[in-house]
Amino acid sequence: MPKTLTVHQDGKARYEIVLDTSFDGLEDQMKKLETGGRRICIVTDSTVAKLYLDQVKKILEQCCREVMAFVFPAGEESKNLETVQKLYEALIQARFDRKDWLVALGGGVVGDLCGYGAATYLRGISFIQIPTTLLAQVDSSIGGKTGVDFASYKNMVGAFHMPRLVYTNVSTLLTLSREQYSSGMGEVIKHGLIQDKAYYEWLIQNKDAIDGRDLNVCMEMIAKSDEIKRQVVEEDPTEQGKRALLNFGHTLGHALEKQLSFSMLHGHCVGLGCLGAVKISILRGYLGQDCLNSLENLMESFHMPVSVTGISADKVVEDTKSDKKMDGNAIRFILLDAVGNAFIDRRVTEEEMRAGLCQVLQ
Ligand code: GLY
Repeated sequence: MPKTLTVHQDGKARYEIVLDTSFDGLEDQMKKLETGGRRICIVTDSTVAKLYLDQVKKILEQCCREVMAFVFPAGEESKNLETVQKLYEALIQARFDRKDWLVALGGGVVGDLCGYGAATYLRGISFIQIPTTLLAQVDSSIGGKTGVDFASYKNMVGAFHMPRLVYTNVSTLLTLSREQYSSGMGEVIKHGLIQDKAYYEWLIQNKDAIDGRDLNVCMEMIAKSDEIKRQVVEEDPTEQGKRALLNFGHTLGHALEKQLSFSMLHGHCVGLGCLGAVKISILRGYLGQDCLNSLENLMESFHMPVSVTGISADKVVEDTKSDKKMDGNAIRFILLDAVGNAFIDRRVTEEEMRAGLCQVLQ
């Protein structure tokens, strides 16, 4: 049975997140959005294009005036202004106007880049998200954060631009590599840690079914994660306060990602960052050591790394200073005072960060 969540903003329903086990419901969802007279450009990457482009294009052709595709090489290296420029050129050549739509078909890189194109082309056109990775399904497709990397700075250029629909076909998880699936679990575990102890415990209880990609269990898990993300982004769409809690594990995680020259997947770096942040919370006396042990065990059951070699703690700490989570000179670090309860702390010191990193650096 499909599941639907509605994301509100300013008290009004803004868009739906639809979870299904196929693309069969996409046509009806588009018809509800009255896309009949619109031209559509599907933005996707070379990996996803081979798997799903033809299928999705055929469906959209049933409910839109004309459908074209913009395919770029898969990988974080493509997430830059150069690819956005090529997208603008393709849209201008096809005479896309303000009423035409983009469709992001793929993972986080596709969703963020397509969303940024939609936010800026002709000062903003509509777009929908069709996330095909776990990470995109539980995190990046929801809440309207769009953008690209700039020089070596991740997501440095961007805009908030809400999608008109998030259509998630959970069966796309079956074509995901084990590494990519495991990376998505970094954001899933984060949701339990920051907001919902019962969900964290549910992940432990269902770890085998999740690891085996049982689609019913995956659907339940994505719905629970999406619900947490929905609540947070509804309350604070532009990250003035509470939305920063979603950055749990990201201050150290992003800095590790940079030190590793992006050779480790985002969700894995976030997982390491979560371990570091839990360690700091333990050193502060907010959590017991059991929390760290349980988190390590859970990450290992999803094949996530729990340590990394060859990285200097000093360099990681230095890189935290260029993170977007800075607020003036203070880092908005996220800590836990219990599993399921995160808070923003602007007083985390460099010594504390080094102590947290000791947990994961070998
Ligand atoms: N990925 C964190 C956020 O959407 O705020």
